[in-house]
Amino acid sequence: MKVFITQPILQSGITLLKEQGHTVEVYEEDTPISKETLYEKAKTSDALITMLSNQVDREFIKENGHLKVIANYAVGFNNIDVEAATEYGIKVGNTPDVLTEATADMALALLMDVSRKTSESFQSIKDGHWTGWEPKGFLGQSLRGKTLGIFGAGRIGQCFANTCHLAFGMNIIYCARTEKESFQATKVSFEELLDQSDVISVHCDLNNETKELFNIEAFKKMKETSIFINTSRGQVHNEVDLELALREKIIWGAGLDVTNPEPMNPKSKILELPNITITPHIGSATITAREEMSLLVATNILNGLNGESLKAGVN
Ligand code: DGY
Repeated sequence: MKVFITQPILQSGITLLKEQGHTVEVYEEDTPISKETLYEKAKTSDALITMLSNQVDREFIKENGHLKVIANYAVGFNNIDVEAATEYGIKVGNTPDVLTEATADMALALLMDVSRKTSESFQSIKDGHWTGWEPKGFLGQSLRGKTLGIFGAGRIGQCFANTCHLAFGMNIIYCARTEKESFQATKVSFEELLDQSDVISVHCDLNNETKELFNIEAFKKMKETSIFINTSRGQVHNEVDLELALREKIIWGAGLDVTNPEPMNPKSKILELPNITITPHIGSATITAREEMSLLVATNILNGLNGESLKAGVN
């Protein structure tokens, strides 16, 4: 059968699919696949491996009801209309677990960078501003014994919280729909999370309830010394409001691995600010995680083509 992959992925999964006798076509262009090309390629395919940037909406599903399986190369699947896919009998898969640690580590990298101003101070060296050791230069925030507020305490949120607790003795609170038995932390309301946290780290899904939840009203309820980290989906925060909150020192700093919109406008005013670090959605970008994601999407495809339930299925 024919499997179409919308962007090049690491080889392990492609090899697995070919070993099972399937034909694999990878879209190799430098620019993201256009809507038209995606429709055209899907027409002649039995299965798709999609990226989080591909809009697999109801219209697409309706046009391509012949597909057997769509495997998203991400744990998040807000780009796919799963309800529509289910109606048309198309199985949908994602890549949980294999990227948990990589993404949690990215949240930590951003938190360390912002709290100790590493990017900001490195930039000052590059700009030729370093004239010598300064007793009051680049004063950061210690994380020891501070309160970390996790918004969306799934696998990644819990992994990040456990790391911060072990590394810095941080006190963990979280806001989530359900109580987490496996997690040594206190469940609080959204208002309490905003009020009590020294660091807020976002790990939730993007949905109608979480869309732009972190807006100016929310930032105003956070501590002036607080740091905001987002490694989930950029649309959970309002980026214009975040820029204002950072510029007006309503909050102290922010670290984003995801932006709103994505990709961000390189002329965005938020990039002028010293108290933010932004990375281009690289949370899962370790070689190990991406190899395992490649194997997992391929396994999901094989399961779907064989009429089995997917190893990591969402419908
Ligand atoms: C995901 O998996 O949802 C990440 O955002 C990309 O790996």
